[in-house]
Amino acid sequence: MKSRRLFIISNRLPMTIQKEGNELTVIPSAGGLITAINNYLKNSKANANEFSETFWVGMPCCNPAAWTEAAKKLPRSKYTYLPVFTSSKTYDQYYNGFSNSTIWPLFHYFPSFTEYNTENYHCYVQANAAFAKALIKYARPGDVIWIHDYHLLPLAQMLRTALPELTIGFFLHIPFPSYEIFRLLPRKWQEELLYGMLGADLVGFHTIDYTAHFLQCVRMILGLEHDMHVIEHENRLIKVDVFPISIDFDHFNNGYDHEQVVQTRTLIQEKFSHKKIIFSVDRLDYTKGVSNRLRAYELFLQRNPQFKEKVVFILVIVPSREGISKYTERKKIFDEMIGKMNSTMGNIHWQPIIYQYNSVSFEEMVGLYTACDLALITPLRDGMNLVAKEFVASRKDKKGVLVLSEMAGAARELTSALTINPNDVDEVADKILEGLEMPEDEKMQRLEAMRNRLKQYDVQAWAVDFFNQLHQIKEKQRAFQ
Ligand code: UDP
Ligand code: G6P
Repeated sequence: MKSRRLFIISNRLPMTIQKEGNELTVIPSAGGLITAINNYLKNSKANANEFSETFWVGMPCCNPAAWTEAAKKLPRSKYTYLPVFTSSKTYDQYYNGFSNSTIWPLFHYFPSFTEYNTENYHCYVQANAAFAKALIKYARPGDVIWIHDYHLLPLAQMLRTALPELTIGFFLHIPFPSYEIFRLLPRKWQEELLYGMLGADLVGFHTIDYTAHFLQCVRMILGLEHDMHVIEHENRLIKVDVFPISIDFDHFNNGYDHEQVVQTRTLIQEKFSHKKIIFSVDRLDYTKGVSNRLRAYELFLQRNPQFKEKVVFILVIVPSREGISKYTERKKIFDEMIGKMNSTMGNIHWQPIIYQYNSVSFEEMVGLYTACDLALITPLRDGMNLVAKEFVASRKDKKGVLVLSEMAGAARELTSALTINPNDVDEVADKILEGLEMPEDEKMQRLEAMRNRLKQYDVQAWAVDFFNQLHQIKEKQRAFQ
């Protein structure tokens, strides 16, 4: 009989609660982690067969009273939400502070954006301790704990100390940087974060490079060697491996024929008939390379005047982390760049850039993925980039071209994309031209190769692979003792 329970732990829950006046609104959370876990839980037969119950544990960014009120409005789900609370000051320094002004910039190779603030670090540890306290109350030996992302690096070790019997997996959704970058952190933090992650039985990354960087940091900083990706620490074996996160292929592929998607696609194609459409969608983030993307598009238009009034760039930017000045400053820069390009290059009949600063629904997004001629994805650094995979999966018609930064984890798998270095705006401008002029049969061949990869290794395969390896290392541990 299945009696094991699954606890999924992430900073963010799949819905975000916002207060507008006296009204509490519940809006879907954005970002790759939420998309992947939501899609895994929505469809997972494997999950239902293996676990008696599933919990999603996270910080709802509101106080307990607001949560109780908002919880009445939540849609029914197959799992139970377990909210974890901390004071708003601790939350601010944990989330805006250490998580998003220290780890996020550093791990994405932005050392000059990285803040080294001891009080923020203490709040980060405190917030992790709040998660540990909540879990220790609910979890039983035999339960499976799956911790997600950089907000929760110390959590596995905290849980291991309190409940040594737990099965704990940890997955990092962002890059793990090279030793030379990681060692910029104060030595004490380096050690505590690495030991924190080693509290898990299995530590997973998107790519072989991130895995190699982590193993090197563990060796150089903690002096622990590995044997075929297995580390022995405190008389316990810990596996470290690669699990490239993926998407629900069928959901996006079938989305092509969804009534509202067809409507959106038709509307866009009619509105921009006789024009090529370039599309991108990202959270507002300095890692996503939006300024370079705009400069490259400008260069493309300057070099190829035949495309004047014959192309539009639909740019969707989703608001994100508005409590951090590095994010709000970006918004101003984008607004200015777009305004300048539209006013100097456009005219009363034509705007080269159509800009939306707001989220889009699934139907609108797939409508845009499938209406465009070219998806332009240019992050300066990105753990995976699910948007690239979603675009490919949505193109049931096998039309459209993917231009993809080689700095995104997704470029390791989507090798038939037109890859670019996002810092080389000349190259990006050239690839836009190449993509827009690509013969139909070449587009088909490239998309088919990428779609086959995504069909085989979708989000279910990713999670099943992770759980299989987690069980294997637990068995190895038992044999080792
Ligand atoms: N997305 C979303 N709301 C939007 C636009 C996009 O939730 O309004 C989703 C998109 O479908 C994708 C995710 O956000 O699944 C972005 O993931 P990605 O890995 O590309 O980047 P991240 O935001 O996680 O850095
Ligand atoms: C990235 C991170 C996620 C995060 C998402 C959205 O995908 O890996 O952990 O949830 O961005 O960011 P936010 O700060 O809004 O949760």
